[in-house]
Amino acid sequence: MHLLVHFIFFLLLIGPTLGSAEPLRIAFGSCIKEPHSQIFSAISKHDPDLLFLLGDTVYYPDNILGNEQEMRSLFKTHLETPTLQALLKSTTHHALWDDHDYGANNVDSLVPYRAITERVFRSLFSIPEHPEGFSKGIHRSFVQRNVRFILTDNRSFRVNPNQGKPSAHFGAQQLSWIESLLAKDDVPTTVLVSGGQILNNPGPTYESLAAYPHEHERLITALSRAPSQVVILSGDKHFADIVRLRTADKELIEASSSPLSANLKSPKLIGNPKGRIASFTTEQNFGLLEIDHTKEPRDMSIKIHTKTRPVLSWHAQSS
Ligand SMILES: [Fe+2]
Repeated sequence: MHLLVHFIFFLLLIGPTLGSAEPLRIAFGSCIKEPHSQIFSAISKHDPDLLFLLGDTVYYPDNILGNEQEMRSLFKTHLETPTLQALLKSTTHHALWDDHDYGANNVDSLVPYRAITERVFRSLFSIPEHPEGFSKGIHRSFVQRNVRFILTDNRSFRVNPNQGKPSAHFGAQQLSWIESLLAKDDVPTTVLVSGGQILNNPGPTYESLAAYPHEHERLITALSRAPSQVVILSGDKHFADIVRLRTADKELIEASSSPLSANLKSPKLIGNPKGRIASFTTEQNFGLLEIDHTKEPRDMSIKIHTKTRPVLSWHAQSS
């Protein structure tokens, strides 16, 4: 009897892994000004299992902010452009927002059209109900093929510094929700997805969690103590890089890809943040994360691609 119980428990534990003979392939990127770009066909060719749009999927013009009908119409037309639409129709995709598809440059949650922008975004991307206990926000989480994805919201709870209120990036309630998911020990790998930078502050022209030291310290601690292997995906910067932060408990990796089809940042503004392993500044790009739980040790790789070729890569194994 004892033996039988143990055998069933073992099957339950490894069950999800047995069902996935292929690596999980996740495409990611941000910042779409030109929805006709061939970069969307290039992503399709990799046949990703999942696609994350990490923000600035559209750039709203200031003069329609708060006009729900015009915001919805402009964003819908953008998504229905044939090149972009072909990718979205063929790939399971999940969108987060950053500043420009929430409102305007570097805006926070105090904008008067907050509820309107959330309605538009939720309807266009069929975003499910809020997590329990929340009345706003597009943050959500799911597990696929033994990987937990935590999709964060860096706008709905944000209070920029100098607003006459305590500043916030994710906000205390969302941060507690993220911490509780990171503490789970039921999957070997967790992917934290964010519009903006998490590990490092890339410089004064960028937004980043590091500009909110209290939240930054809490999240780095939670990432470090997570029982699972953790990788972070982000966008926003209009160049790509891979950053590593070694804490006492583990090595944290953040891969940023941007822009998919918008202007590139001047290399002069890119700076050299601590921990950057590599950067790529000269062409529009997307990322590919591959997680292979079928090997032992487990295998994970990240590549940054242009329309035509891979340009950065990182690879790790863990047991
Ligand atoms: Fe952008």
